[in-house]
Amino acid sequence: MVTRESPAAHLQIVRTREALREALARAPRPVGLVPTMGWLHAGHRALIARAHAETATTVVSIFVNPRQFGDPADLAKYPRNEARDVAICAEEGADLVFAPSVEEVYPPGFDTSVRVGEVAQPLEGAARPGHFDGVATVVAILFDLVGAERAYFGQKDAQQLLVIRQMARDLAIPTEVIAHPTVREPDGLAMSSRNVHLSPAERAAAPAIRRALLAARECWQNGERSADILRDRMRAELSEEPLAEPDYVSVADATTLRELKTIDGPTLVSMAVRFGATRLIDNELLD
Ligand code: PAJ
Repeated sequence: MVTRESPAAHLQIVRTREALREALARAPRPVGLVPTMGWLHAGHRALIARAHAETATTVVSIFVNPRQFGDPADLAKYPRNEARDVAICAEEGADLVFAPSVEEVYPPGFDTSVRVGEVAQPLEGAARPGHFDGVATVVAILFDLVGAERAYFGQKDAQQLLVIRQMARDLAIPTEVIAHPTVREPDGLAMSSRNVHLSPAERAAAPAIRRALLAARECWQNGERSADILRDRMRAELSEEPLAEPDYVSVADATTLRELKTIDGPTLVSMAVRFGATRLIDNELLD
């Protein structure tokens, strides 16, 4: 009988830049990085499992990045459970967890911000001022510290992916940015750490987002090319659900995120919708 070392026995947790550097010096290449803010769910699991399958060393970072939260209350209520997250990392085959303190990532005197241009401005950028500066800054630091050959991100945060690709290209960071499809609950709701804040009624209402996006996809598949008609179709679908309060509904060029009049190439349809105090985002790529 072959006995295998339990995965948890193999996983190493490091909390400082120094310990990370030491652990990586001995790590087999290529290295894959999965940046997260913890409270790991099946979406994160899929990214970690993919990195594990495609690289020799999988590094998961767990860091609730204060710089990407505009609202201190939002940061304070962000769910955390490191022990559970570490167990999930081990189950999915991670080799190294980087779980630094805020001071370790942003030492006293830290005073630099990475600001991505046009693609970071609309949608989430407009709704959450400063959010993508915080994301680009922390991901630039993580990319530099880990020096991974590949980094894995979810398509669920489509604009974040575009912002990170732009940042990595412009700063000549050699890490390849890989997109992974959105992982969903059986009823179509995209997995999100924020879903825990939904009341049972809000949770039951939340799949309206998916229905609206699929209605837009169906319209497009049937040959509709007017962006306004797709937007109207999505708003109509959302209005069927009394608990859904749309923040934005967008039909945009999938590369620049400029809002479209006419669909004539790869298109990102996306929305942010509030259910009570919880704001959820999702998207569908029409290509
Ligand atoms: P977080 O929300 O923890 O997400 C970490 C990664 O998991 C991101 O790449 C995100 O797109 C991906 N992800 C989340 N939900 C997913 C789902 N349902 N299916 C597939 N992938 C999913 O995004 C962040 O953290 C932060 O902004 C971060 C990039 C870590 C920078 O702080």
